[in-house]
Amino acid sequence: MIRGIYMFVVIGATGSVGRDVVKLLLEAGDKVAAVTRDPAAAALPAGAHVVYGDPSRPGSLTALPDRVEAVLLSPRAVGGAGRAAAELLSLAAARGARRVVVLSAATVEHPAGERRFAEEFRAVEQAARGSGLEWTFLRCADFAANALAWAPQIRATGVVRGAYGGAATSPIHQRDIAEVAVRALVDPGHAGRAYVLTGPRSLDQRDKVRLIGEAIGRDLSFQELAPEQVRRAMLAQGLPEDVPDRLLGSLADYAHNPGPTTDTVEQLLGRPALTFAAWAADNTAAFTAPARS
Ligand SMILES: NC(=O)c1ccc[n+]([C@@H]2O[C@H](COP(=O)([O-])OP(=O)(O)OC[C@H]3O[C@@H](n4cnc5c(N)ncnc54)[C@H](OP(=O)(O)O)[C@@H]3O)[C@@H](O)[C@H]2O)c1
Repeated sequence: MIRGIYMFVVIGATGSVGRDVVKLLLEAGDKVAAVTRDPAAAALPAGAHVVYGDPSRPGSLTALPDRVEAVLLSPRAVGGAGRAAAELLSLAAARGARRVVVLSAATVEHPAGERRFAEEFRAVEQAARGSGLEWTFLRCADFAANALAWAPQIRATGVVRGAYGGAATSPIHQRDIAEVAVRALVDPGHAGRAYVLTGPRSLDQRDKVRLIGEAIGRDLSFQELAPEQVRRAMLAQGLPEDVPDRLLGSLADYAHNPGPTTDTVEQLLGRPALTFAAWAADNTAAFTAPARS
């Protein structure tokens, strides 16, 4: 591959990982097609070739470029559907794509939570296997960025109310996922590999709240609620039922069996995985900015 000629297509380009991948590829001098359903709001970096489309309806991606080298695929962006993923990869293959990197989840290999959610990731992985492209699966632990859901409570009260405070995982910084994704997009040496990517240390929810508190210089606490209370509060906020189902199902399992911890990020990047404390330090503004009225 001659870098700078072929295009990397990022599906889910405005997500926390996709955005970092776009930035890293551009910084390395690569060409990037960043797919979004809302180009006007996407605020993608200058230099990205912004492509309108809804990845769950691949026919909507009418301006996909020629000379595609590889595709980063976000299962959420394709609506968790194997069929849309397969269709999209076939479009990319017709434009020359050789590789696909799937942002999958650790639950595929280390089951936690309701099976149907792991099945969505499996379906997208299966579509990648069947696409004829070389594939790499990044089976990620929970993103550190999920803790942003606590930001309004932290700003307003300094207390995080939730269920299963003892549920432990090794949350991963999205920059680590993005760096691994770029390597797998650019280097064919990762073909046929499924990597379980995690942060460096197992932390329960109370640990995470405490580490955010240390980053912003404020005493924060975790208040244990019954799972049913959390579910009701989420539904009252207008969230679809899938959200508490997904969250509470996996937390219940992680309260009994902590999620996996691997050193795969360090092996692949040649430096330790970023800590949750580092993620919190990178994101203090979210936890300290005045709440919007
Ligand atoms: N969060 C975790 O703990 C975790 C763990 C393991 C794996 N994953 C997976 O990692 C992938 C990347 O996650 P991420 O947080 O970087 O990105 P994300 O927020 O899940 O989504 C990336 C982008 O996809 C686009 N999109 C298109 N259709 C969508 C739809 N129906 N619903 C939501 N977004 C849609 C949105 O971009 P536009 O609005 O610009 O179109 C969105 O910004 C996801 O597939 C996720 O399932 C997440």
